[in-house]
Amino acid sequence: VDIETFEMERLQSTWENVVDIDLSESGARAVTLHELMGWGFDLEPQLHVPLGYSQTNGTVALREALAAQYPGATPDHVMVTNGSAEANYLVLAALLKKGDGFALEVPNFMQVRGLAQLWSGRPADAFRLRFDADWEPDWAEFERAVQPGTRLVYLSNPNNPTGRILSEAARRRIVARCEQVGAWLLSDEVYAGSELGRPTTPTLYGASDRVIVVSGLSKAYGIPGVRIGWLIAPPSLAAETWRLHDYTTIGPSKLSDAIACFAVRHDIREKLYERTRTIVKQQLPIVQDFARSTGGALAFNPPDATAMAFMRWSGPGTSGELCRRLLEKRSVLVVDGRMLGLDGYVRLWIGAPRDRLVEGLRRIGEELREPA
Ligand SMILES: Cc1ncc(COP(=O)(O)O)c(C=O)c1O
Repeated sequence: VDIETFEMERLQSTWENVVDIDLSESGARAVTLHELMGWGFDLEPQLHVPLGYSQTNGTVALREALAAQYPGATPDHVMVTNGSAEANYLVLAALLKKGDGFALEVPNFMQVRGLAQLWSGRPADAFRLRFDADWEPDWAEFERAVQPGTRLVYLSNPNNPTGRILSEAARRRIVARCEQVGAWLLSDEVYAGSELGRPTTPTLYGASDRVIVVSGLSKAYGIPGVRIGWLIAPPSLAAETWRLHDYTTIGPSKLSDAIACFAVRHDIREKLYERTRTIVKQQLPIVQDFARSTGGALAFNPPDATAMAFMRWSGPGTSGELCRRLLEKRSVLVVDGRMLGLDGYVRLWIGAPRDRLVEGLRRIGEELREPA
């Protein structure tokens, strides 16, 4: 297949369950079923449900609960998928044809760049978020990237990996430009709810008829393992993604749908968000102290949201070489910024189990003190 390797995912798939210390993830450490049961999730009835196929676009109960989170959405606007990754996949499959333009901010979660190249047959048009501008988009690059002929623009907001949330002015500018050139805007909001000391990032859904939102349980909710994501789109587009879903995973599992129905309940969702925020708030100072101890070799702006630190690497060698040394010599997995579209940076998981984070940072510190 003529598609670039999704390098970050390949790295994680290969190593995350093999290394001593995985600091390559991006959400809060995952919730257990036991924790959910402590908040009232009733597992008993689930034990008697035949493990047959579920409603393949998500049960009505789940789609109703999700629609209620997005202004103007109905269950027909909602398509439930296996993870937000599948939601992104289906949106791109439904919208992009050969020759279509596709733009994305970088750094970013690169799943969509590979998919866009596969279906449009041309390289993506990237616009940078700039470290020296507190990760604001480079507007000149944005105007060049989003042009008549651009079919789709992709944002992750809050952004993976910078943790930056777009300002209201930036959101308006991006939406207006998409309307002007006739592009769809795909807003991946899987980190919304993980904000630090600020309100939940407002959804872009409803800002224009051309906005599609993708989200899921994996990051701010802290439930990646049940593989539930969703997309919110005009009903005709949601129906088209459902049609394509018949060719991918057919549908989510019944048990996952039931867990999702519980997790997205307003009171439970807020508890899960609070859990994520508390973990990151408690552990951010550990990572900041560590960064200070490197004498500037690793430096980062604290994220507005997410559970990761995107650190600029100013030590000897490339960020890729550093990541490789950490993996091979210290059994610590972090992500090279190049795999997220920006060389010279390292992405590190703040939301890891605390002991693992502390030990991982100790090993990284040790490696930095050794000659390369
Ligand atoms: C921005 C973004 N979107 C989507 C995903 C995929 O998440 P999942 O399929 O686990 O919901 C990720 C995972 O890292 C991500 O960072």
